[in-house]
Amino acid sequence: MRTEVAIVGAGPAGLLLSHLLDRAGVESVVVETRSRQYVESRIRAGILEQSTVDLLRSVGLGERLDSEGDVHRGIHLQWPGRRHHLDFQDLVGRSVTVYGQTEVTKDLGRAREAAGQHIVYEVSGTAVHDIGTDRPSVTYTKDGRTERLEAAVVVGCDGSFGPSRAAVPEPRTWERTYPYSWLGILADVAPSTDELIYAWHPDGFALHSMRSAAVSRLYLQVPNGTDPGTWSDDRIWDALAARLGHGHDGWSLTPGPITEKSVLPMRSFVQQPMRHGRLFLAGDAAHIVPPTGAKGLNLAVADVALLAPALAALLRRGDTTPADGYSETALRRVWRCTHFSWSMTTMLHTSSDPFDDRLQRSQLEWIAASTAAATGLAENYAGLPIGF
Ligand code: DHB
Repeated sequence: MRTEVAIVGAGPAGLLLSHLLDRAGVESVVVETRSRQYVESRIRAGILEQSTVDLLRSVGLGERLDSEGDVHRGIHLQWPGRRHHLDFQDLVGRSVTVYGQTEVTKDLGRAREAAGQHIVYEVSGTAVHDIGTDRPSVTYTKDGRTERLEAAVVVGCDGSFGPSRAAVPEPRTWERTYPYSWLGILADVAPSTDELIYAWHPDGFALHSMRSAAVSRLYLQVPNGTDPGTWSDDRIWDALAARLGHGHDGWSLTPGPITEKSVLPMRSFVQQPMRHGRLFLAGDAAHIVPPTGAKGLNLAVADVALLAPALAALLRRGDTTPADGYSETALRRVWRCTHFSWSMTTMLHTSSDPFDDRLQRSQLEWIAASTAAATGLAENYAGLPIGF
C-alpha cells in the first residue's frame, strides 16, 4: 500500500492530523494498535484552551463542541480557609471550554469515517523504516498478514509507548518523575461547583472537575503505587470533602455513585528533536506532561496544527522551510507547557517537606493578591495562541 503520509496512532493527534491533511488535499493512512472502541472510550482530561476550540471549529469539528461544551471564565484556587476565583476572561480575555478529550476523539472518528479516511485498527508489531531516505515506510501485522505502508512522510502520533519515538537515533531526552499519583473518579452526580476547584491541602491536592451537568470528575493526590481497590467510595468522598473545603462558607460537596476509579501516574518528559529525516513526532510521542493544568491534548492539537501545513508545503510545493522549522517551533510551546504543568503540579501537591508547604502557600497567596501573578497563570492556563 502506498500513501503520502503514514500516520502511526489514531488518538486525537493522529486523527486530527489526517483531518487537516485531507483539507489541504494531502492523502494519509492511519494505523492503530487498539480498536476504535477502545480509543474512543479512553478517559482523559477535559479542558480545551481557546485556541484548541477555535481550531476545531474552523475545520468543521465545532458543532457538538458548541452545543455540549461548557465555557468557563476561570478556575477556583483553594487552600484551607480560602477559595479564590481567577477570572481568565478579565485577566487575559480568553476562556476555556470543558469538553472531554473522549468526546473530541469521537467527533474526529465520525468526521474521518464520513470522509472515507483509511484507518487500520487493531494492528500489531508496528515498525517504522528508512526514515533517513525519501521512501520511508511502516510495517505492521493485521489479521495474521504483514503489510507494508509506503509513504513520503511518516508521522508518529503513537504516544509514549509507541515505536516512533524510539526510531529517532540519538535523541535528547529530559524527564521528571513526581513522588505522587492521582486517584481519579467519574461519578454520576451534578458537579458541586460552577468552575473547577484546584485545592491545596495538608493531606494532599484535590481537584473538582466535571464532564457534564450530570457527571463529575474528581481527583485526589495519593502516594505512588496506590492500589485503587484500597480506596472505598466512602473513603474517597470523605477525603474529597475534607480537601475541597466541605462546610466552609456554606459550601458542600455532594457525593454520588462512582462509575470509574483509577490511578494516574505523573511524569514530565520531552524528547527532541521532533523530527528525524522523513519521520515527524506529534503529541505524547514527543512529550508527556503531568495532568495538572490539562495541557496534554491542547499541546498535541498545537503540534498537528503546525505540522499539517508544513507537510502540505513540503509535499505539494516542495517547500521544505516550514517542515525544517517544525521541531524548533513546536518545542517552544512544548517547553512552555512543560514548565506550566510542572509549576501547577509542584505548587499544589504536598510533599513531606514543611519548607515546601510554606513556599506553596506563599505562592498561592501571591496569586490571589497580585494581578500580575494571576495574569501569568491565566495566560498559561487559557493557552497561548497557536504559533507561540
Ligand atoms: C481535568 C484534568 C486535569 O488535569 C485538569 O487540570 C483539569 C481537569 C479533567 O479531567 O477534567
